[in-house]
Amino acid sequence: MSEPLGIGLIGCGTVGSGVARLLTQESERLATRAGRSLVLRRVAVRDPSKPRAVTLPAEMVTTDIAAVVRDPAIPIVVELVGGTSLARTVVRDALAAGKHVVTANKALLAAHGPEIFAAARQAERTVCFEAAVAGGVPIIRALAESLAANQVTAIQGILNGTSNFILSAMSEKGMSYADALAQAQKLGYAEADPTLDVDGSDAAHKLAILAQIAFGVVAQPAEIERHGIDTIDALDVRYADELGYTVKLLAEAWAAERDSPTPTVALHVAPVLLRKTDMLAQVRGAFNAIQVVGDVVGETLYQGPGAGMMATASSVVADLIDLAVGRAQKTFAVANLWSGGTSRFSVVPSDKVRSRFYLRLLVRDLPGVLADVCQALADQEISISSVIQHEAVEGHPEQVVPLVIMTHTAETARMRDAIATIDRLAAIVTPAVHYSVDD
Ligand code: NAP
Ligand code: HSE
Repeated sequence: MSEPLGIGLIGCGTVGSGVARLLTQESERLATRAGRSLVLRRVAVRDPSKPRAVTLPAEMVTTDIAAVVRDPAIPIVVELVGGTSLARTVVRDALAAGKHVVTANKALLAAHGPEIFAAARQAERTVCFEAAVAGGVPIIRALAESLAANQVTAIQGILNGTSNFILSAMSEKGMSYADALAQAQKLGYAEADPTLDVDGSDAAHKLAILAQIAFGVVAQPAEIERHGIDTIDALDVRYADELGYTVKLLAEAWAAERDSPTPTVALHVAPVLLRKTDMLAQVRGAFNAIQVVGDVVGETLYQGPGAGMMATASSVVADLIDLAVGRAQKTFAVANLWSGGTSRFSVVPSDKVRSRFYLRLLVRDLPGVLADVCQALADQEISISSVIQHEAVEGHPEQVVPLVIMTHTAETARMRDAIATIDRLAAIVTPAVHYSVDD
């Protein structure tokens, strides 16, 4: 067996503690898989006195990140602090010091992928990031290695465990949004700033990474249109349920005009109504699932725990094993990610994407209102498939009724134009709510 491989851990919170546990408690199994021992040498944290989910010798723990990064007995640095500021410095310094880097930081890669990968190539070192997308689900390897013979044509994924946990708890247990979010935080699923989870940003970061691997595009997170679950009304979860649908936060990439010299890909994150029988609709709790369509293989589905201590540690440690074996270095060199080369695909807005729509309005219960709403849809050539007018909203000062309209397939841009007209109608009480419906 080769000589032991030293590992430095920067950050020992939810994920870091899981990694430290695996490295210290399963060392024999890991050594067999890696062909050499993986030895945790140093751990940098902000507050060494904090209780942790792993017991480490006091002399292993430090607040001095630079000392860990520069330690000559540490050829691999694992960045698990999160965020895009300190983490960026840690990764840059580690690469400059000749270390390989393993990270679970999707926000960092989505924002600074080109810079980080250029630094890695210059230093002739490797950056591994399986844990950055979908926690314990090996989607990075699936896309970069197992589907390498394909041109991916579509990706549809539940990529944020916290949002999926909240939506499941609200629809299955009738839990309030605030209670479900608090529980997701307690279980270690949420980001340090949970706004990133619930406003769709975290899923957009992950989609940007998948889009780089699948389409070669560099999509800045800000360019990805996103809507989160933070604005979802429990009313719509209930109406969707009555109609036979489940609301899921989906990150989607749709390729178009693939055979033209200038193919496009539309990227967006939004709540979507899925039929309850759909495979993605049945993904519950903090689980993630990603459906990838390849032009050779057809439809494939990857599913598993998308967040949490040990699930995420599983992916981080798999990266460490791949580095120890030398597999990761080879894939890294060939995949040439964020290399500055131009992609065949260009990122376009989602306006042209076609789907059915769920439209929910709160309207004053007056003659002619339904006719006006229908006219606005007709003017955009949007055909209605069903209309349900619910009973008046209890406790509302006026005679206000919810109107739920399901449409046939329409272009997103046309639906938006119709909604702009509808929102200007005098009888509309609050802005229209609309979600794509995926049958
Ligand atoms: P976390 O629990 O907040 O842990 C962050 C760690 O970084 C803590 O140990 C903290 O030290 C340390 N740290 C923060 N600032 C520091 C500083 N200035 N100096 C030294 N150490 C510092 O975060 P996490 O949930 O483990 O997430 C880590 C990364 O994994 C993030 O990029 C996240 O997006 C990603 N990720 C998380 C999950 C998940 O399920 N949680 C899943 C996939 C990916 P103290 O402990 O002393 O405060
Ligand atoms: N906060 C993230 C989530 C962690 O809930 O999915 C996994 O990346």
